[in-house]
Amino acid sequence: SGLLLLTAVLGYLLGSIPFGVLVTRVMGLGDLRRIGSGNIGATNVLRTGNKGAALATLLLDGGKGALAVLVARWLLAEDAAQLAGLAAFLGHLFPVWLGFRGGKGVATFLGVLLALNWIVGAAVCATWLLTAVVSRTSSIAALMAAATSALWILALTDGSLLLLALILTILIYVRHAENLKRIKAGTEPRIGAKKA
Ligand code: G3P
Repeated sequence: SGLLLLTAVLGYLLGSIPFGVLVTRVMGLGDLRRIGSGNIGATNVLRTGNKGAALATLLLDGGKGALAVLVARWLLAEDAAQLAGLAAFLGHLFPVWLGFRGGKGVATFLGVLLALNWIVGAAVCATWLLTAVVSRTSSIAALMAAATSALWILALTDGSLLLLALILTILIYVRHAENLKRIKAGTEPRIGAKKA
């Protein structure tokens, strides 16, 4: 229906807001694309040395994914909510405002999952946090959270989120190709380290 298309477009537009770039610019911390990995996410914002800016980016990039889901659920139903979550995630990866060169989608993935099923979202967030604490490496935490999301869905739900989670997981792995090379080479920087 027209409303379904509308919620998908709204999801994409919400997802395409590059909060890391905006927060960094507004706070006078420089051009995020020229810092660290050049990525637009919270991990790279942290390389400016400003923890508040990084936390704000994490919450805003997660929040936009959650908001897309909640609006679609409110206007339509659960299928539309999943589609809006996918659209928001794709908006973050391919934002029209940045010539379609966006981010890796980790915060938006977490926000989308939390809004779609808070128990699954909480389990995936806990996996992400615990792996971050143990590995001190943001990309490893992201890859672990993504890889285990399907398992959490199978363990905790009827499985209706499985296909979406698999699509998002594959895209997260594709977007972490450079990180995976550095992890294998042993050169991936620890969380908060200035260089990437
Ligand atoms: O969320 C992205 C994170 O997993 C890696 O970011 O800047 O280290 O490539 P970055």
